[in-house]
Parts: sequence; structure tokens; C-alpha cells
Amino acid sequence: MPLVDMGDMLRHAYTHRYAVGAFDLVSLDFLQAIIEGAEACDAPVILSLAESHFAYFDLELLMPAVEAAARRSRVPVAIHLDHGASLESARRAIALGCNGVMVDTSSQPFAANVARSAEIVRMAHACGVTVEGELGYVPGVEGEDAERHPGALVYTTVEEARDYVAQTGVDCLAVSIGTVHGHMRGTPELDFERLAAINAALRLPLVIHGGTGLGETQFRRLIEHGVAKINYYTALSEAAAAAIRRRALQTDAGGYTGLVRDVQAAIRAEVERCIRLWGGAGRAADVLAQCRPWHNVEHVILYNTAGMADADAHAMMAEGQRVLAAIPGVRQVAVGEAVDEAARYRYCWLIRFSAQPVISAYKHHPDHVDFADRLFRPVAADRVTVDFALRSHNQELS
Ligand code: 13P
Repeated sequence: MPLVDMGDMLRHAYTHRYAVGAFDLVSLDFLQAIIEGAEACDAPVILSLAESHFAYFDLELLMPAVEAAARRSRVPVAIHLDHGASLESARRAIALGCNGVMVDTSSQPFAANVARSAEIVRMAHACGVTVEGELGYVPGVEGEDAERHPGALVYTTVEEARDYVAQTGVDCLAVSIGTVHGHMRGTPELDFERLAAINAALRLPLVIHGGTGLGETQFRRLIEHGVAKINYYTALSEAAAAAIRRRALQTDAGGYTGLVRDVQAAIRAEVERCIRLWGGAGRAADVLAQCRPWHNVEHVILYNTAGMADADAHAMMAEGQRVLAAIPGVRQVAVGEAVDEAARYRYCWLIRFSAQPVISAYKHHPDHVDFADRLFRPVAADRVTVDFALRSHNQELS
């Protein structure tokens, strides 16, 4: 069960002055290691999927595993899209199970960043999903050396941060105060005065990108000044790579499984080190008690079609699947036919929503209204509709 509302999780961290680790994952080894690391610390954790990594795995295949791992875990978990490329990326990530999204429009001029972020917020909040905004520019791509990437660091200013949050309604804000993604040549100099001023002005959970390479004191001071989420990847990737290199030097390392044998332990050790350093250890029970659980909703419609040939009914269903599946917050559209021909209802729709707010957003969405009024309701007057909050999944019983 322990998928929880990401906004609630971050507000808990902000109020109690610790930071949740948002660890980018690129494989099952990362997923298992991150969850086990969080469980070993009894800490909340964010499983983060960065769009820059989608070249290395199929998100559609990985997400069911991410969701299963989250639901099965003993600690509270949120699932986040990191550095999404577009509104459509965010919609797709929500459909696949994310309950937090960040679409990176920070390289755009202020007004464009505000306009695009506000659009993301409208869509995501209608799905009950938390939104992270970013202001300023943190150079680099997670997992690669920042200096290979163009663009100098642009610091977040207090005035822009205040205006941006007021105009967009984001739930948390990633700030640029001197970190880079990947490694920086020399020691990163962080502008704590700027961070303190932003925190005093916003009173909102702040996010740091580019966690790799920062020292213990720097992390402590970041958290003192309102950082409640730390994005972290490169160090995990390096720990995994080092473990593989060590094995590869052995003549009897064996095949693939031999080479990756130590990868999970290496990632897990780094995850644990970070979680303890960032103050998350021992918080799981309190987070579970204080944060809203994240429940999908099943929108169930049982119906009969009056005077309609089977082929026409099937065509109507196919059209419905195509149109309804694209509505924000819709995770799945299944159609079914009664096994027993004498059943009270012949057909069903099972439409899975990401969370409760989607019930209303879906009902009023123009694509739903058009399909329902034009193709469905006229032939399906005999129907019953119920929304169910899904409280339990069978993998939790194991
Ligand atoms: P690092 O790769 O520097 O740890 O940063 C990760 C990150 O910020 C992902 O968004």
C-alpha cells in the first residue's frame, strides 16, 4: 500500500527539516537497491524517472515494476517524472503511474516558463498529482559530466521565485544556487544566503538538483534552509559501474550475472548513506500516518446496448478506448463482455483513474463529453456507474 501523495511527503520533510532522496533509476537493479536502502533506513523515498534516461529502458515496461515495488514496500514511496520534456510527457508519466511530475521549462525566458509551468500544474492538479517547478538553470545531464554541456549556471532570484510560485501554483520548487548535474570541476560553491532568502519568501519545499559531489556540511545547510527533496543519480551510477569494473578484472567473473552481482549492494550502500545524512531515517511510520495514501480509482460502467449490432457496439468501444485513454489522469481503458449471456449487464467499461480528482476532471473533459453524448449514452440508457477507490492489490498480500 505505501504509495503516498508526493506533496504531503515533501511538506512532511519540509516541516520536520529533513530531505527525501529522489533517486533516478535506470534498471531493476537500481529499483531494488533504492527500495531496499530506504527500507533498511525506515525512510520515505522517491523513485525518480528522468526523461533523459528513456533511451536506456522502455518506460512502459519498467513502470509496472516500479509501481509493484512501491506498493509492496514497507516504507512510503512516491513516483516522480524527473525533467520531463513536455506536457505530453507528463500526461503519459501520470498514466503510467507517476504521482509527481517535473517538466523542465527552466531554460526558457521567465514569462514562457511561467506560462508552460502553469499549464502543467492545471493538468497535473486535475489528476491529483504534485508538480515540481524549476527556476534558474542547473547545467548538465544527470550521469554525465556537466562541463560537457552548454549553458552557464543561472541563479534563481528571490523576486522571480516569488512571482513564479504565485503565478503557477507549483507545489515545490527546484532552485539553482550553484549545483550542477553530474560532476563539477573543483568544489561546488553554494549560495546559501540566496537559498535562505528564497526559503523565507516562499515557505515551500525546495528541491536541489545535482546532489552528487556535495559534502556533508553542504547537505546539512541545504536542509536547514528549506531543501526537502534532493535529486541524486551520478554517484549511484558510478558506484554501480565501479562494482562491475571490479568484477570484470577477475578472470572467473563469469557472464552477465557474474559481472553485475555486486551492483545492487553498491547502489544500496550509497542510498543508505544519503538517506541517513539527509535525516530521513526512522521517519517512515510518521510519514505514513501524516500523508494521504495514493489510491487509484476504478470507474466502472456496466451497460446494455439497445438495438445495436455487435459489430457497431465493438466499433463504439474501440473509438471510446482511443479517445478516453488520452484524457489526463486516465491510466487504462478496458472493455469487457459478460461471460454469462444471461447476466443482467452484457458489457462493461473499466476505466482506471490515477486518483480521485480525475473523477470530476474526466466527467467534464470535452473529449469525454463528446464521446459520451454522441456515441455512448444514446445507445446505453440501461447502465449503472460506480467509482471505486482501489484499496488493495494482490501483490500486497504476499
Ligand atoms: P546528480 O546526477 O548530479 O546526482 O543529479 C541528479 C539530478 O539532479 C536529477 O535530476
